[in-house]
Amino acid sequence: MSNWFYLNFILLLLAIWKIITHFSFPELSLHVLLGFIGFLFFLFNWTRNAMFSTIRSVPDRNIKIRLVNVSKKVIPFHRWTGMAALTFILLHGGTVIYHYGFSFKNGKMLVGLLAMITLVFLVISGWMRLIKPSVKLRRIHLRLGMLLFSLVVWHLLL
Ligand code: HEM
Ligand code: HEM
Repeated sequence: MSNWFYLNFILLLLAIWKIITHFSFPELSLHVLLGFIGFLFFLFNWTRNAMFSTIRSVPDRNIKIRLVNVSKKVIPFHRWTGMAALTFILLHGGTVIYHYGFSFKNGKMLVGLLAMITLVFLVISGWMRLIKPSVKLRRIHLRLGMLLFSLVVWHLLL
């Protein structure tokens, strides 16, 4: 199994931890709930990377074929879960700014904004990849995903 599975699982635990220790728990403010739902959609799509890395590294052909078949089932949803992540994160950012107002001095807001911009480019590169696939676009889509993963870790730790 790819190390990415473990990393993704640790990130999920971190997000759950931040949610249950939030001062508004268990009612939860709307902006926190929207951020968490957007995060879950992102993580679902990002797990594709862990899946692909596993397929590449598994030596057993039968397991490889099984994993490829599971992976194929997700392809029709991938673009829509990506769009759902973008929608929820735009609403999250919007409600955060509505509640607190925007400040460049707030690290969490600044990193959140960088993550949102990265997500916009990730989604654009995804649609470009779907319309006209190329090796270059594949690399860009994957690198933007990795960048977003790091920014989300940072955003949650702040
Ligand atoms: C991909 C983008 C983003 C993801 C996945 C995300 C996810 C989350 C999650 C899960 C939380 C709740 C847990 C915690 O407090 O750490 C949160 C909180 C927060 N986010 Fe985001 N976020 C993103 C973008 C943004 C943007 C664009 C902004 C601001 C403009 C922002 C500002 C905040 C703030 C201020 C909080 C703390 C709210 C509070 O404690 O009441 N985030 N985010
Ligand atoms: C949260 C947003 C997204 C994330 C984290 C994400 C992540 C990924 C990952 C990790 C892969 C596999 C990378 C590889 O080739 O090794 C992938 C493949 C792909 N993504 Fe996305 N993606 C997102 C949104 C989108 C969107 C909105 C589209 C729009 C069409 C899209 C289109 C594609 C396409 C066409 C592939 C190749 C499918 C295949 O042949 O398996 N992605 N994405």
